[in-house]
Amino acid sequence: FDTKTPPYLTSDKSSFAYVSARDRWPIIITQAIDDLYRSVSDCDESEKKEEGKKITEELARLKYELQHDRQLTPIRDDGGADVALYNRELEQLGTPSWFNIPWLYCECYLYRRLNTSFSLSKHWKSYDVFSRQKIKTFRSSRPAVLELAARYKDLVTQMKHDGDKGGAEYDEAQKILFLEMCEICLWGNATDLSLLTSLTYEDIQKLQGSEARKASEKNILVNDLGAAYEVLKKAKSEGKKERRVDIVLDNAGFELYVDLILAGYLLSSGLATLVVLHPKSIPWFVSDVLPGDFAALLSALASPKRFYETPTEDDKLQDKIPAPISEKEAADLSFLFQEWAQMHAEGQLIMRSNSFWTHPGSYWRLPSVEKDLHEDLKTSEVVIFKGDLNYRKLTGDAAWDPSTPFTTAIGPLGPGSGVNVLALRTCKADVVVGLKPGQDEEIRATDVPGEGEDSRARKWAWSGKWAVVSFSGGK
Ligand code: F6P
Ligand code: MG
Repeated sequence: FDTKTPPYLTSDKSSFAYVSARDRWPIIITQAIDDLYRSVSDCDESEKKEEGKKITEELARLKYELQHDRQLTPIRDDGGADVALYNRELEQLGTPSWFNIPWLYCECYLYRRLNTSFSLSKHWKSYDVFSRQKIKTFRSSRPAVLELAARYKDLVTQMKHDGDKGGAEYDEAQKILFLEMCEICLWGNATDLSLLTSLTYEDIQKLQGSEARKASEKNILVNDLGAAYEVLKKAKSEGKKERRVDIVLDNAGFELYVDLILAGYLLSSGLATLVVLHPKSIPWFVSDVLPGDFAALLSALASPKRFYETPTEDDKLQDKIPAPISEKEAADLSFLFQEWAQMHAEGQLIMRSNSFWTHPGSYWRLPSVEKDLHEDLKTSEVVIFKGDLNYRKLTGDAAWDPSTPFTTAIGPLGPGSGVNVLALRTCKADVVVGLKPGQDEEIRATDVPGEGEDSRARKWAWSGKWAVVSFSGGK
């Protein structure tokens, strides 16, 4: 079921696969070791402490194997139904080593392998080794969070007051708002933790006004949002009773926050009546959403003063006292909390886990391997796939010619699949499709590689500065 187009490999020195394996993965494992070390030091149950030390050693061994380009070892059986799947594929690949293997498989294996050290333990089974980093980054995005909360509150209050006015002018305003919400949601993806990108908070802030949004649109190389809007508008005007939008989530923290802004907006505006969120089942690519991250976000919003004003361990070390939250800011956040908690309680905003999202394969396999999930997604008006990894999985992480149509590159999930796919992705990997002929070359020409760098590399696509928003009508 996989694409015949060759996948990106960690052996390809001109690709981000190689750079990731060489530079980023060792850092990610080291950060996990540091986090665990801290938790082990704080722990006073001796059995748990001993076990924690053993896990630390296992992680150090994993880092050693990676850096010494050893063969990948089979995933140990921790009872997960996906173990056989990972191991069968490893065997089919010929049990390669870390620097000679398809990038997508290997990176998924890394997180699944990390997870076994915890899942096979007694005391650390559900420990999320990336949780600290996720919370810390969310706290540091405070200005953007507050700004958006104020804007969201005004918007929703106004929508409730105005109701559905109808008419061409109203339609146009609705469309602009939809585009803006989606674009905020798109750029929220630039803040994942597995790759700190060049996009600063100021950049994100600039995307808020519609004038500024227009200016930033030049970095969106493909923008099919209009097509997705038409689908939602049509379903609404046909009076369809249940109009569902799915979001295959990417990162926790600020990105999840903007995903909820979009979800809340879709429900408040009546463009959707149900939003289904799809989280990951194990700690994944550092910052991806686990069900617990959703609960943590809501609880931060429920008590913003406690969340933002309690000094962190780092604050204490630096003798820093966090700035207080104003009454207005606290009220804006609590408005969000009430809105989202109510939508959640009323079953309009729900989470649905599936271990498929942490399988090693691409989404080309979805229709044949996960029939139930496929059927489920067919009932959605639009399935939004957030972020870079989801895009890599949609396209098989393959070395497509960049002018290949998106609908071709997503194979069995394309036209005829019954699924309307919308990818919102800031580019952080080599694969990119749907560009105009010559567009890749044009960007390469303005983004000249430095001295000694490989001119074959599509480096512009690694930094999160550019984005693609691609739609495929599958119905
Ligand atoms: O390209 C760097 C990288 O870590 C990839 O390994 C992965 O596809 C991606 O970034 C994760 O980003 P996102 O959170 O947007 O999926
Ligand atoms: Mg991610």
